[in-house]
Amino acid sequence: MQQTLEPLITSAWLAAWDKGDLDALDALMAVDYLRTSKATGATVDLAGLKAEIAAVREAFPDLSTTVDDVVEGDGTVAVFWTSTGTHTHEYLGVPPTGLTVQTRGSNILTLDNGKITRESVTWDGSELLAGLGIRPLRGIAAPVAPDAADLPELDPDLMKAFNRQFITGVTVVTTKEGETPKGLAANSYCSVSLEPPLVLVCVQKTSSTYSALFSSSHLGINILGTNQRETVRTFASKSPDKFAELEWHDGPNGSPLLDGSAASLEAEIQERFQAKTHTVFICRVRHAETGGSAPMVYKAGRFFDGDALAEL
Ligand SMILES: Cc1cc2nc3c(=O)[nH]c(=O)nc-3n(C[C@H](O)[C@H](O)[C@H](O)COP(=O)(O)O)c2cc1C
Repeated sequence: MQQTLEPLITSAWLAAWDKGDLDALDALMAVDYLRTSKATGATVDLAGLKAEIAAVREAFPDLSTTVDDVVEGDGTVAVFWTSTGTHTHEYLGVPPTGLTVQTRGSNILTLDNGKITRESVTWDGSELLAGLGIRPLRGIAAPVAPDAADLPELDPDLMKAFNRQFITGVTVVTTKEGETPKGLAANSYCSVSLEPPLVLVCVQKTSSTYSALFSSSHLGINILGTNQRETVRTFASKSPDKFAELEWHDGPNGSPLLDGSAASLEAEIQERFQAKTHTVFICRVRHAETGGSAPMVYKAGRFFDGDALAEL
C-alpha cells in the first residue's frame, strides 16, 4: 500500500458514514468494487454500499465513527472501526427505540493499483440488535447449516391443518402508546415456566400495536371469557379506538387490563426474539388477577364456551 492511502481511507470513511458525503468514497473504489458481508454472504457494488450507508444514517442520524486501527498487508488493508448512534428510525425491522448503541467491525480491503476492488466485512449485527433489545433466532435470521436453504419448505396447508387441531384460549395483549391504550387479539400466549413466572406471546410486526408494544417495558395479557365474543372481534380488527366501549383498569405498571376477563396479568418484557414476520416477547409476570367467568375456547377459527367442556 502507498503510505498516503491510510489517511485517505480514514477521511473518506468518516465523511461517508458520519457526514453522509457518500461520493467521498468514489476516489477510493475501483470501478468493479464489490463488498461482501461475512455474516450474510450478501455482495453489493458501490451503489449498494452507498444505499446501505444511507439506511444506517437514516436510522442513526447522529452516527459517530472512530477508525480504531488500520493494518497494512501485502495488497490488503484491515480497517477496525467502532460506531455509536441513537436509534431514531426503523432499522433491520426494529422500530425506533431512542437507544444509543455501539457496534464494531473489521473490514479487509483488497487493493489493486491503489484502489479498493474488494471489501470483506466482518460485523456482528447481533451485538447491535442486542443493544436495541432484540435477539435474532439462529436458523431463522440465517440458515445454520450451509445446505439448510436447499431443504424443501413444509407445505403451508399441512402446517395450517396441524394448527387447526390445536385448541387454545384467546387473549388480548395490551399496552399504551403515551396515554392511549392499544391492544390486539392473540392466541399465541404460552406459559413458559412457573419459577421464574415467564410467559410468551408472538406478535406480527405488521400489527398497529407492534411498535408501542416493542418500546414498552410491560404488557398486559387478558384471557377472554365466554361473554367477551364481541371483544375478540374488536381486538382482531384495526379499529383506531378498540377500548371505546370497554371497561378496563391499569395494572400496577400501567398496562390496560380488561374488566370481565377470565384472568389478566401484567408482565415485564425481558426478551424480544426476532422470528422473521413475528417478534416473540418473553415476559416475567409481575401481577396477575383472576375473574369469575369461564375462559373462551378457540379451535380452527371458531369460538366455544369454555364452561361446557366434557371431561374425558
Ligand atoms: C383468535 C385470534 C388469534 C390471533 N392471534 C394472534 C397472535 O397470536 N399474534 C398476532 O400478531 N396476531 C394474532 N391475531 C391477529 C390480530 O388480532 C389481528 O391482526 C389484529 O387486526 C391486529 O390488530 P392491530 O394491527 O390493531 O394491532 C389473532 C386473531 C384472532 C381472531
